[in-house]
Amino acid sequence: DSTLSELAAARGRFVGSILNSEWFNNSLGSDATIYESTHKANFNIVVAENEMKFDATEPSRGSFSFTKGDKLMAYAAANGMQVRGHALAWHSQVPSWVSTLAQQVESAGGSARDTLLSVLKTHIDSVVGHYKGKIREWDVVNEAINDNGTHGWRSEGSVWYQYIGRDFIDSAFVWAHKADPDAKLYYNDYALEWGMGTGTKAQFAYDSIAVRLKNAGIYITGIGTQTHIQNTHTSTPSNLRTLASKLKSIGMTMQITELDIGFALGTAISDADYAAQGHLYRQFMDLFLEAENMEAFVIWGFSDKYSWLKDQSKYNGLIFDSSFAKKPAYDSLVASLKAH
Ligand code: G3I
Repeated sequence: DSTLSELAAARGRFVGSILNSEWFNNSLGSDATIYESTHKANFNIVVAENEMKFDATEPSRGSFSFTKGDKLMAYAAANGMQVRGHALAWHSQVPSWVSTLAQQVESAGGSARDTLLSVLKTHIDSVVGHYKGKIREWDVVNEAINDNGTHGWRSEGSVWYQYIGRDFIDSAFVWAHKADPDAKLYYNDYALEWGMGTGTKAQFAYDSIAVRLKNAGIYITGIGTQTHIQNTHTSTPSNLRTLASKLKSIGMTMQITELDIGFALGTAISDADYAAQGHLYRQFMDLFLEAENMEAFVIWGFSDKYSWLKDQSKYNGLIFDSSFAKKPAYDSLVASLKAH
């Protein structure tokens, strides 16, 4: 039987998954063989779960660490996979030296804004430069829109927004494009699947990032929608269909970048529930294949045994179970691909 990547490649598309941090740390134990063979068979684009983030790549100022990222690049090259780079400017997983430095500069009467602009530029130049020509697309800015229902810029907890302001976003895209003019550049965020329209996060991302940067003449390829959802969120595929078509109208693309569909913790999951989870997965694959401006469909892990959801209020959101057996969700993705 054809695998996900064989079916996707035949349709000119990418289907992907992260490699979990356990893979980078050689801590998969006796799962290592099945983990790798399952990943290799099914995906033609790959993302590092944590290993290309700021804290992993620049643990102290100006001192870069590419060992784990390079391990991913070698694996991708050996297995004919493309790579999504994740993520350059994000409020989370920023090492503490960044805010310490900003506070020091500020209390000495200097410009913390200028210092952090310089820090971010050096980071982007170095990381994008290191992988120049090898990474298909970067999540340049991740999660810059807030989560408190007002859908303005995320300020709380964001060292970049607090010290630089909104234009850290603009600058990040400009620097990334300069460092690798051939890389595709994405704005990536979650909760975009809650719909378009005034007051929604998707509308804000569309207006204040996609359209605004385009009008400013700043290169951006499109928007990545993470899509960490729950099995009850059945209206979300059609909302993403709308976002994809809005982006198409301004010449941009949309990627599904981190899909998982978890069940609320504590609920018993029946066979029918797993079938419904598969049906929902299929609706995302259907919209992906039917959109002309979507290239990659990426899930945030593939086995329920290795998933960030285990630390959250949701679980069992992926397409292989904890023993690496295919779930109905896997068969549903295959069925969608075969139908298109
Ligand atoms: O690096 C330390 C390690 O030294 C320590 O031994 C270990 C013990 O807990 O923790 C390690 O750090 C953890 C890191 O993952 C690496 O395993 C952090 O505590 C943990 O918070 C971190 O979680 C990651 C999370 O991003 C951080 O925000 C998840 O693995 C990763 O799946 C998740 O991915 C994000 C995307 O980047 C952006 N979109 C949402 C998505 C899910 O939250």
